[in-house]
Amino acid sequence: MFDTLARQPDDPLLALIGLFRKDERPGKVDLGVGVYRDETGRTPIFRAVKAAEKRLLEAQDTKAYVGPEGDLVFLDHLWALVGGDTVERSHVAGVQTPGGSGALRLAADLIHRMGGRRIWLGLPSWPNHAPIFKAAGLEIATYDFFDIPSQSVLFDNVVRAFEGAAAGDAVLLHASCHNPTGGVLSQPQWLEIAALAAERGLLPLFDLAYQGFGRGADPDVAGLRHLLTVVPEALVAVSCSKSFGLYRERTGAIFAPTTSPAAADTVRSNLAGLARTSYSMPPDHGAAVVRTILSDPALARDWAEELEGMRQRMTGIRRALAEGLRSRWQNLGAIADQEGMFSMLPLTEAEVMRLRTEHGIYMPGSGRINIAGLKTAEVDDVVGKFMSL
Ligand SMILES: Cc1ncc(COP(=O)(O)O)c(C=O)c1O
Repeated sequence: MFDTLARQPDDPLLALIGLFRKDERPGKVDLGVGVYRDETGRTPIFRAVKAAEKRLLEAQDTKAYVGPEGDLVFLDHLWALVGGDTVERSHVAGVQTPGGSGALRLAADLIHRMGGRRIWLGLPSWPNHAPIFKAAGLEIATYDFFDIPSQSVLFDNVVRAFEGAAAGDAVLLHASCHNPTGGVLSQPQWLEIAALAAERGLLPLFDLAYQGFGRGADPDVAGLRHLLTVVPEALVAVSCSKSFGLYRERTGAIFAPTTSPAAADTVRSNLAGLARTSYSMPPDHGAAVVRTILSDPALARDWAEELEGMRQRMTGIRRALAEGLRSRWQNLGAIADQEGMFSMLPLTEAEVMRLRTEHGIYMPGSGRINIAGLKTAEVDDVVGKFMSL
Protein backbone atom coordinates (compact mmCIF):
# COMPACT_ATOMS: atom_id res chain seq x y z
CA MET A 1 0.00 0.00 0.00
CA PHE A 2 2.81 2.46 0.75
CA ASP A 3 3.79 2.29 -2.93
CA THR A 4 0.53 4.04 -3.80
CA LEU A 5 1.75 7.20 -2.04
CA ALA A 6 3.41 10.14 -3.77
CA ARG A 7 6.22 11.94 -1.97
CA GLN A 8 4.85 15.22 -0.57
CA PRO A 9 6.89 18.44 -0.87
CA ASP A 10 8.72 19.56 2.26
CA ASP A 11 7.45 22.67 4.03
CA PRO A 12 9.38 25.53 2.36
CA LEU A 13 9.65 27.43 5.67
CA LEU A 14 11.32 24.45 7.36
CA ALA A 15 13.73 24.17 4.41
CA LEU A 16 14.52 27.88 4.86
CA ILE A 17 15.40 27.30 8.53
CA GLY A 18 17.87 24.60 7.42
CA LEU A 19 19.50 26.92 4.87
CA PHE A 20 19.79 29.71 7.45
CA ARG A 21 21.43 27.39 9.95
CA LYS A 22 24.06 26.32 7.42
CA ASP A 23 24.94 29.93 6.51
CA GLU A 24 28.14 30.85 8.37
CA ARG A 25 28.12 34.60 7.68
CA PRO A 26 28.09 36.56 10.97
CA GLY A 27 25.57 39.25 9.89
CA LYS A 28 22.91 36.83 8.62
CA VAL A 29 19.29 37.70 9.48
CA ASP A 30 16.32 35.31 9.59
CA LEU A 31 13.11 37.09 8.62
CA GLY A 32 11.40 33.82 7.71
CA VAL A 33 10.68 32.33 11.14
CA GLY A 34 7.12 32.08 12.44
CA VAL A 35 7.92 32.75 16.09
CA TYR A 36 8.52 35.87 18.19
CA ARG A 37 12.15 36.74 18.81
CA ASP A 38 13.50 39.26 21.33
CA GLU A 39 16.39 41.72 21.06
CA THR A 40 18.86 38.89 21.69
CA GLY A 41 17.34 36.71 18.97
CA ARG A 42 15.75 34.25 21.41
CA THR A 43 12.15 33.07 21.62
CA PRO A 44 11.74 33.69 25.34
CA ILE A 45 9.68 31.81 27.90
CA PHE A 46 7.44 34.38 29.63
CA ARG A 47 8.40 35.03 33.29
CA ALA A 48 4.80 34.23 34.29
CA VAL A 49 4.97 30.91 32.42
CA LYS A 50 8.13 29.89 34.31
CA ALA A 51 6.51 30.86 37.62
CA ALA A 52 3.32 28.95 36.78
CA GLU A 53 5.34 25.89 35.76
CA LYS A 54 7.15 25.89 39.11
CA ARG A 55 3.83 25.94 40.93
CA LEU A 56 2.42 23.18 38.75
CA LEU A 57 5.47 20.99 39.24
CA GLU A 58 5.04 21.20 43.00
CA ALA A 59 1.26 20.97 43.18
CA GLN A 60 0.34 18.52 40.43
CA ASP A 61 -0.54 15.13 41.88
CA THR A 62 -1.85 13.17 38.90
CA LYS A 63 -1.36 12.65 35.21
CA ALA A 64 -4.79 11.10 34.71
CA TYR A 65 -6.67 12.08 31.53
CA VAL A 66 -8.13 15.58 31.30
CA GLY A 67 -11.15 14.61 29.15
CA PRO A 68 -11.96 15.58 25.56
CA GLU A 69 -13.06 19.10 26.54
CA GLY A 70 -9.81 19.78 28.36
CA ASP A 71 -9.37 22.13 31.30
CA LEU A 72 -12.67 23.87 32.04
CA VAL A 73 -11.16 26.61 34.23
CA PHE A 74 -8.65 27.38 31.45
CA LEU A 75 -11.61 27.72 29.07
CA ASP A 76 -13.46 30.10 31.42
CA HIS A 77 -10.45 32.40 31.76
CA LEU A 78 -9.55 32.28 28.09
CA TRP A 79 -13.09 33.12 27.05
CA ALA A 80 -13.07 36.14 29.39
CA LEU A 81 -9.83 37.32 27.76
CA VAL A 82 -11.18 36.88 24.23
CA GLY A 83 -14.91 37.52 24.41
CA GLY A 84 -15.04 39.95 27.34
CA ASP A 85 -18.67 40.46 28.27
CA THR A 86 -20.08 40.04 24.75
CA VAL A 87 -21.61 36.60 25.19
CA GLU A 88 -22.25 34.99 28.56
CA ARG A 89 -20.06 31.96 29.20
CA SER A 90 -23.13 29.73 29.63
CA HIS A 91 -24.06 30.51 26.00
CA VAL A 92 -20.59 29.64 24.73
CA ALA A 93 -19.46 26.13 23.83
CA GLY A 94 -15.74 25.76 24.48
CA VAL A 95 -13.28 22.94 23.98
CA GLN A 96 -9.53 23.02 24.63
CA THR A 97 -7.52 22.04 21.55
CA PRO A 98 -3.95 21.22 20.52
CA GLY A 99 -3.03 24.77 19.48
CA GLY A 100 -4.87 27.11 17.17
CA SER A 101 -4.42 24.57 14.37
CA GLY A 102 -6.37 21.98 16.34
CA ALA A 103 -9.08 24.59 16.97
CA LEU A 104 -9.34 25.43 13.27
CA ARG A 105 -9.59 21.74 12.37
CA LEU A 106 -12.35 21.11 14.93
CA ALA A 107 -14.17 24.21 13.64
CA ALA A 108 -13.92 22.94 10.07
CA ASP A 109 -15.12 19.46 11.11
CA LEU A 110 -18.07 21.03 12.94
CA ILE A 111 -18.99 23.17 9.91
CA HIS A 112 -18.90 20.04 7.77
CA ARG A 113 -21.04 18.12 10.26
CA MET A 114 -23.61 20.96 10.27
CA GLY A 115 -23.95 20.65 6.50
CA GLY A 116 -21.88 23.76 5.75
CA ARG A 117 -20.24 23.29 2.41
CA ARG A 118 -18.13 26.34 1.75
CA ILE A 119 -15.71 28.67 3.50
CA TRP A 120 -14.55 32.04 2.16
CA LEU A 121 -10.88 32.85 2.49
CA GLY A 122 -9.23 36.20 1.70
CA LEU A 123 -5.82 35.80 0.05
CA PRO A 124 -3.05 35.78 0.88
CA SER A 125 -3.66 33.94 4.14
CA TRP A 126 -1.80 31.66 6.52
CA PRO A 127 -0.68 28.80 4.23
CA ASN A 128 -2.27 26.16 6.49
CA HIS A 129 -5.80 27.58 6.31
CA ALA A 130 -6.83 26.10 2.96
CA PRO A 131 -5.29 22.63 3.60
CA ILE A 132 -7.03 22.37 7.01
CA PHE A 133 -10.43 23.30 5.59
CA LYS A 134 -9.99 21.02 2.57
CA ALA A 135 -8.98 18.12 4.81
CA ALA A 136 -12.30 18.54 6.63
CA GLY A 137 -14.17 18.30 3.32
CA LEU A 138 -15.01 21.98 2.87
CA GLU A 139 -14.99 23.76 -0.44
CA ILE A 140 -12.86 26.91 -0.45
CA ALA A 141 -13.94 30.12 -2.12
CA THR A 142 -11.28 32.81 -2.32
CA TYR A 143 -11.03 36.53 -2.91
CA ASP A 144 -8.10 38.95 -2.94
CA PHE A 145 -7.83 40.55 0.50
CA PHE A 146 -4.64 42.57 0.15
CA ASP A 147 -2.73 44.37 -2.60
CA ILE A 148 1.00 43.98 -1.99
CA PRO A 149 2.37 46.81 -4.21
CA SER A 150 0.07 49.41 -2.63
CA GLN A 151 0.12 47.70 0.80
CA SER A 152 -3.63 48.12 1.16
CA VAL A 153 -6.55 45.99 2.30
CA LEU A 154 -8.96 45.49 -0.61
CA PHE A 155 -12.04 46.13 1.46
CA ASP A 156 -14.35 46.34 -1.56
CA ASN A 157 -13.42 42.72 -2.29
CA VAL A 158 -14.36 41.68 1.25
CA VAL A 159 -17.74 43.33 0.84
CA ARG A 160 -18.26 41.76 -2.59
CA ALA A 161 -17.34 38.30 -1.28
CA PHE A 162 -19.73 38.61 1.67
CA GLU A 163 -22.48 39.85 -0.64
CA GLY A 164 -21.87 36.93 -3.00
CA ALA A 165 -21.77 34.29 -0.27
CA ALA A 166 -24.79 32.08 0.34
CA ALA A 167 -26.58 31.82 3.68
CA GLY A 168 -24.82 29.17 5.75
CA ASP A 169 -21.41 29.78 4.17
CA ALA A 170 -18.55 30.23 6.62
CA VAL A 171 -16.20 33.22 6.36
CA LEU A 172 -12.68 33.08 7.79
CA LEU A 173 -11.61 36.28 9.51
CA HIS A 174 -8.21 37.05 11.05
CA ALA A 175 -9.26 38.76 14.29
CA SER A 176 -6.17 41.01 14.10
CA CYS A 177 -2.48 40.87 13.16
CA HIS A 178 -3.23 39.45 9.72
CA ASN A 179 -0.80 36.70 8.72
CA PRO A 180 0.95 37.26 6.29
CA THR A 181 0.15 40.90 5.40
CA GLY A 182 -0.27 42.78 8.71
CA GLY A 183 -3.23 44.47 6.98
CA VAL A 184 -5.63 46.23 9.36
CA LEU A 185 -9.41 46.57 9.19
CA SER A 186 -10.71 49.84 10.65
CA GLN A 187 -13.53 49.86 13.20
CA PRO A 188 -16.07 51.19 10.60
CA GLN A 189 -15.02 48.32 8.30
CA TRP A 190 -15.59 45.81 11.12
CA LEU A 191 -19.06 47.32 11.64
CA GLU A 192 -19.81 46.90 7.94
CA ILE A 193 -18.55 43.29 7.94
CA ALA A 194 -20.64 42.50 11.01
CA ALA A 195 -23.80 43.98 9.45
CA LEU A 196 -23.21 42.06 6.22
CA ALA A 197 -22.49 38.75 7.99
CA ALA A 198 -25.71 39.11 10.01
CA GLU A 199 -27.79 40.16 7.02
CA ARG A 200 -26.49 37.37 4.76
CA GLY A 201 -26.68 34.63 7.43
CA LEU A 202 -22.94 33.86 7.25
CA LEU A 203 -21.02 31.98 9.91
CA PRO A 204 -17.88 33.90 10.92
CA LEU A 205 -14.89 31.73 11.85
CA PHE A 206 -12.32 33.88 13.65
CA ASP A 207 -8.69 32.91 13.73
CA LEU A 208 -7.19 34.60 16.80
CA ALA A 209 -3.50 33.68 16.96
CA TYR A 210 -1.83 36.96 17.97
CA GLN A 211 -3.92 38.63 20.69
CA GLY A 212 -1.78 41.38 22.22
CA PHE A 213 0.68 41.58 19.31
CA GLY A 214 -1.17 44.34 17.41
CA ARG A 215 -2.64 47.33 19.29
CA GLY A 216 -3.02 45.57 22.66
CA ALA A 217 -4.95 42.64 24.17
CA ASP A 218 -8.34 44.43 24.12
CA PRO A 219 -8.07 46.45 20.89
CA ASP A 220 -6.95 43.28 19.07
CA VAL A 221 -10.35 41.71 19.68
CA ALA A 222 -12.49 44.86 19.30
CA GLY A 223 -13.73 43.88 15.82
CA LEU A 224 -14.37 40.31 16.91
CA ARG A 225 -16.29 41.46 19.99
CA HIS A 226 -18.42 43.79 17.90
CA LEU A 227 -19.31 40.97 15.53
CA LEU A 228 -20.30 38.75 18.44
CA THR A 229 -22.86 41.33 19.52
CA VAL A 230 -24.42 41.37 16.03
CA VAL A 231 -24.36 37.78 14.71
CA PRO A 232 -26.22 35.01 16.55
CA GLU A 233 -23.59 32.30 15.98
CA ALA A 234 -19.84 32.29 15.39
CA LEU A 235 -16.71 30.20 15.86
CA VAL A 236 -13.53 31.51 17.47
CA ALA A 237 -10.28 29.53 17.13
CA VAL A 238 -7.75 30.70 19.71
CA SER A 239 -4.04 29.93 19.77
CA CYS A 240 -1.95 30.49 22.92
CA SER A 241 1.25 29.78 20.98
CA LYS A 242 2.31 33.39 20.47
CA SER A 243 0.40 35.33 23.16
CA PHE A 244 1.71 33.04 25.91
CA GLY A 245 4.85 31.82 24.09
CA LEU A 246 3.68 28.22 24.50
CA TYR A 247 4.25 27.07 20.91
CA ARG A 248 5.37 23.50 21.53
CA GLU A 249 2.91 22.93 24.36
CA ARG A 250 0.11 22.93 21.76
CA THR A 251 -2.35 25.14 23.61
CA GLY A 252 -5.54 26.60 22.21
CA ALA A 253 -9.32 26.42 22.22
CA ILE A 254 -12.34 26.51 19.98
CA PHE A 255 -15.26 28.61 21.19
CA ALA A 256 -18.72 28.73 19.70
CA PRO A 257 -20.88 31.59 21.00
CA THR A 258 -24.53 30.52 20.64
CA THR A 259 -27.95 31.89 21.56
CA SER A 260 -28.74 29.74 24.62
CA PRO A 261 -27.20 27.38 27.20
CA ALA A 262 -28.99 24.45 25.53
CA ALA A 263 -27.51 25.30 22.11
CA ALA A 264 -24.10 25.72 23.70
CA ASP A 265 -24.39 22.30 25.32
CA THR A 266 -25.28 20.65 22.02
CA VAL A 267 -22.40 22.32 20.20
CA ARG A 268 -20.00 21.48 23.04
CA SER A 269 -20.96 17.81 22.90
CA ASN A 270 -20.35 17.76 19.14
CA LEU A 271 -16.96 19.46 19.45
CA ALA A 272 -15.99 17.02 22.20
CA GLY A 273 -17.12 14.10 20.04
CA LEU A 274 -15.06 15.36 17.10
CA ALA A 275 -12.03 15.69 19.36
CA ARG A 276 -12.59 12.16 20.68
CA THR A 277 -12.43 10.64 17.19
CA SER A 278 -9.36 12.65 16.23
CA TYR A 279 -6.80 12.99 19.05
CA SER A 280 -9.10 11.99 21.92
CA MET A 281 -7.94 14.54 24.48
CA PRO A 282 -5.76 17.65 24.40
CA PRO A 283 -2.36 17.85 26.14
CA ASP A 284 -2.65 19.27 29.65
CA HIS A 285 0.47 21.28 30.40
CA GLY A 286 0.07 24.47 28.34
CA ALA A 287 -3.55 24.96 29.34
CA ALA A 288 -2.66 24.36 33.00
CA VAL A 289 -0.01 27.08 32.69
CA VAL A 290 -2.46 29.57 31.11
CA ARG A 291 -5.08 28.70 33.75
CA THR A 292 -2.52 29.29 36.54
CA ILE A 293 -1.50 32.66 35.09
CA LEU A 294 -4.98 33.98 34.35
CA SER A 295 -6.41 32.91 37.71
CA ASP A 296 -3.69 34.74 39.67
CA PRO A 297 -3.91 38.57 39.38
CA ALA A 298 -0.18 39.10 40.03
CA LEU A 299 0.89 36.53 37.44
CA ALA A 300 -1.70 37.84 34.98
CA ARG A 301 -0.37 41.38 35.41
CA ASP A 302 3.19 40.25 34.85
CA TRP A 303 2.18 38.28 31.73
CA ALA A 304 0.30 41.28 30.33
CA GLU A 305 3.28 43.57 30.97
CA GLU A 306 5.70 41.25 29.24
CA LEU A 307 3.33 40.84 26.30
CA GLU A 308 3.01 44.62 26.04
CA GLY A 309 6.82 44.93 26.00
CA MET A 310 6.97 42.49 23.08
CA ARG A 311 4.30 44.43 21.26
CA GLN A 312 6.16 47.71 21.77
CA ARG A 313 9.39 46.17 20.51
CA MET A 314 7.65 45.09 17.30
CA THR A 315 6.02 48.51 16.92
CA GLY A 316 9.44 50.18 17.22
CA ILE A 317 10.95 47.86 14.60
CA ARG A 318 7.99 48.52 12.30
CA ARG A 319 8.48 52.28 12.55
CA ALA A 320 12.23 52.13 11.94
CA LEU A 321 11.90 49.73 9.01
CA ALA A 322 9.08 51.73 7.41
CA GLU A 323 11.09 54.94 7.77
CA GLY A 324 14.10 53.35 6.08
CA LEU A 325 12.32 51.55 3.26
CA ARG A 326 9.89 54.29 2.28
CA SER A 327 12.63 56.36 0.60
CA ARG A 328 12.82 53.63 -2.06
CA TRP A 329 9.35 52.04 -1.85
CA GLN A 330 6.98 54.83 -0.83
CA ASN A 331 4.12 52.45 -0.04
CA LEU A 332 6.21 50.56 2.51
CA GLY A 333 5.65 53.46 4.89
CA ALA A 334 2.46 51.48 5.62
CA ILE A 335 4.51 48.86 7.51
CA ALA A 336 4.52 51.25 10.47
CA ASP A 337 0.73 51.07 10.78
CA GLN A 338 0.35 47.35 10.11
CA GLU A 339 -0.10 44.89 12.98
CA GLY A 340 1.52 41.79 14.37
CA MET A 341 4.59 39.89 13.35
CA PHE A 342 4.23 39.90 9.58
CA SER A 343 4.33 42.15 6.56
CA MET A 344 4.62 41.30 2.92
CA LEU A 345 7.22 43.08 0.80
CA PRO A 346 6.71 43.75 -2.92
CA LEU A 347 9.82 41.83 -3.97
CA THR A 348 10.31 39.47 -6.89
CA GLU A 349 11.55 35.93 -6.19
CA ALA A 350 14.85 36.97 -7.83
CA GLU A 351 15.21 39.86 -5.36
CA VAL A 352 14.42 37.54 -2.44
CA MET A 353 17.16 35.19 -3.69
CA ARG A 354 19.66 38.05 -4.07
CA LEU A 355 19.04 39.19 -0.51
CA ARG A 356 19.68 35.64 0.60
CA THR A 357 22.77 34.84 -1.43
CA GLU A 358 24.46 38.26 -1.43
CA HIS A 359 23.49 39.53 2.01
CA GLY A 360 22.42 36.58 4.18
CA ILE A 361 18.86 37.97 4.63
CA TYR A 362 16.43 35.07 4.67
CA MET A 363 12.72 35.19 3.84
CA PRO A 364 10.37 32.95 1.86
CA GLY A 365 9.88 33.59 -1.88
CA SER A 366 6.55 35.26 -1.14
CA GLY A 367 8.37 38.22 0.46
CA ARG A 368 6.73 37.70 3.86
CA ILE A 369 8.91 39.04 6.64
CA ASN A 370 8.71 38.48 10.39
CA ILE A 371 9.24 41.87 12.00
CA ALA A 372 10.26 40.13 15.24
CA GLY A 373 13.14 38.45 13.39
CA LEU A 374 14.94 41.84 13.49
CA LYS A 375 16.90 43.39 16.33
CA THR A 376 16.73 47.19 16.64
CA ALA A 377 20.48 47.50 16.04
CA GLU A 378 20.21 45.56 12.76
CA VAL A 379 17.52 47.66 11.10
CA ASP A 380 19.79 50.28 9.44
CA ASP A 381 22.11 47.64 8.05
CA VAL A 382 19.21 45.55 6.71
CA VAL A 383 17.59 48.63 5.14
CA GLY A 384 20.93 49.43 3.45
CA LYS A 385 21.00 45.94 1.94
CA PHE A 386 17.43 46.31 0.62
CA MET A 387 18.53 49.61 -0.98
CA SER A 388 21.24 47.80 -2.94
CA LEU A 389 18.64 45.75 -4.84
C1 LIG B 1 -2.84 32.90 11.46
C2 LIG B 1 -2.50 31.68 12.25
N1 LIG B 1 -3.48 30.89 12.69
C3 LIG B 1 -3.25 29.79 13.41
C4 LIG B 1 -1.96 29.41 13.73
C5 LIG B 1 -1.80 28.13 14.50
O1 LIG B 1 -1.11 28.23 15.65
P1 LIG B 1 -0.77 26.97 16.56
O2 LIG B 1 0.72 26.86 16.52
O3 LIG B 1 -1.29 27.33 17.89
O4 LIG B 1 -1.41 25.76 16.00
C6 LIG B 1 -0.89 30.20 13.31
C7 LIG B 1 0.48 29.82 13.61
O5 LIG B 1 1.43 30.29 13.10
C8 LIG B 1 -1.17 31.37 12.55
O6 LIG B 1 -0.20 32.16 12.11
